[in-house]
Amino acid sequence: MKITNICCIGAGYVGGPTMAVIANKCPHIKVTVVDLNETRISLWNDENVDNIPIYEPGLNEIVKEARGRNLFFSTQVDKAIDEAELIFISVNTPTKTYGTGKGMAADLKHIELCARQIAKVSKSNKIIVEKSTLPVRTAEALKSILENTGNGVQFQILSNPEFLAEGTAVADLLNPDRVLIGGDTSTDGQVAIDALVEVYANWVPRERILKTNVWSSELSKLTANAFLAQRVSSINAISELCEKTEANVNEVAKAIGMDSRIGSKFLKASVGFGGSCFQKDILNLVYISKAFGLNEVADYWEQVIIMNDHQKRRFSKNIVKTLYNTVSGKKITFLGWAFKKDTNDTRESAAIYVADDLINEQASIALYDPKVESKQVLSDLDYLETRSSDENKKYIEIFEDPYEACKNAHAIAILTEWDEFKEYDWQKIYNNMLKPAFVFDGRNILDLQKMNEIGFVYQSIGS
Ligand SMILES: NC(=O)c1ccc[n+]([C@@H]2O[C@H](COP(=O)([O-])OP(=O)(O)OC[C@H]3O[C@@H](n4cnc5c(N)ncnc54)[C@H](O)[C@@H]3O)[C@@H](O)[C@H]2O)c1
Repeated sequence: MKITNICCIGAGYVGGPTMAVIANKCPHIKVTVVDLNETRISLWNDENVDNIPIYEPGLNEIVKEARGRNLFFSTQVDKAIDEAELIFISVNTPTKTYGTGKGMAADLKHIELCARQIAKVSKSNKIIVEKSTLPVRTAEALKSILENTGNGVQFQILSNPEFLAEGTAVADLLNPDRVLIGGDTSTDGQVAIDALVEVYANWVPRERILKTNVWSSELSKLTANAFLAQRVSSINAISELCEKTEANVNEVAKAIGMDSRIGSKFLKASVGFGGSCFQKDILNLVYISKAFGLNEVADYWEQVIIMNDHQKRRFSKNIVKTLYNTVSGKKITFLGWAFKKDTNDTRESAAIYVADDLINEQASIALYDPKVESKQVLSDLDYLETRSSDENKKYIEIFEDPYEACKNAHAIAILTEWDEFKEYDWQKIYNNMLKPAFVFDGRNILDLQKMNEIGFVYQSIGS
């Protein structure tokens, strides 16, 4: 079976970049990305390709080449479903905020809505691909919804989780470590798997395309994120011990990272991990484990989240303690709001929680981030529901210029590891700050010796 028409439901951080790369690498396949969010779709279609709604290095060029040729963004969901042979579901699966499993389980309402819509609209056989990260055995629920439509259409359900990292999405998609495709073990299931393999094989070496059963594929994605987050929490746990023992976490990380059994990636101590995935996916793993009565397994993974929350709180507490136990009325400048560099995504960013803590202590936050928009910052704070929107506005001021943001500040907190922060004229920043001038480097990106020489009281994580 040769695929010529693909639909992707969900034009977000995963759907948008993934489909842009598929369209770019497969000019013979028509790829339509649909979303209910009209603003998002109109930005994807913006004449000026720099205005696309997601910032990822290199993404605008990929979109520019394929858009209008074989890549389309649309709100006409039914039409795109009807025409496609293969449908990716790439909608959001946030943590449930209500009912059973509140705060733990994945909210699958968007997934179910997609399944019902596909079932309603389809007039021909289709391959449905779970691209969203889903709890193990979700494919079973999808199958049940799709198979009970009564219109005789056959569906094959595949799991093809996405392993891209925001900030390097395009590079990851162009050169993935592996592509994972899980499907039914029946002959029809294998035909569907092979059809999707042929799409990726247009640019991914075949030995990097793994075929598994659906459940292994679903669980592998949760497991990958749990392992990555666990490394961050592990090194962060050691960072606190370093602060008490005069060991330096950067030195420890380097020393253990050179062990080929451990490896050097994801060993950077920081204010804590953020992003829409790590916390949500681990909570999901914890919830599933508990549901099966596996309490030790659940507790083991939950500790990764507990450590991460502790690291964020510890960072804000340390700022208050160091600034003579009060930050009331003091100007504290945040450099960075995105959850990591090279993205405008702020979901679960540590900066949000640190700001919330410091606003509770009545600090005045000045903020500069190269890519995050002001309205996003305010909506992130409002989302916590700690105080009213008007109150939040009183405590945070957003600047277009980092030097202005730092002027007359009591302290600077670095919350995102944007490369440009390393290039700043730190002497100039120092000259315009109140003294003593404190820098709390939540990402360990600046040079301790240089900062001390300028005169800063400089603190990084874990030393
Ligand atoms: N962000 C990442 O780095 C990343 C990486 C790997 C996997 N994932 C997973 O991919 C999935 C999507 O994540 P994301 O970051 O792209 O989310 P997102 O919120 O950026 O995008 C999801 C989009 O789906 C749309 N949508 C929701 N319901 C819809 C419906 N019924 N019909 C049409 N459109 C609908 C929303 O409007 C939204 O634009 C999640 O399951 C996530 O866990 C994310």
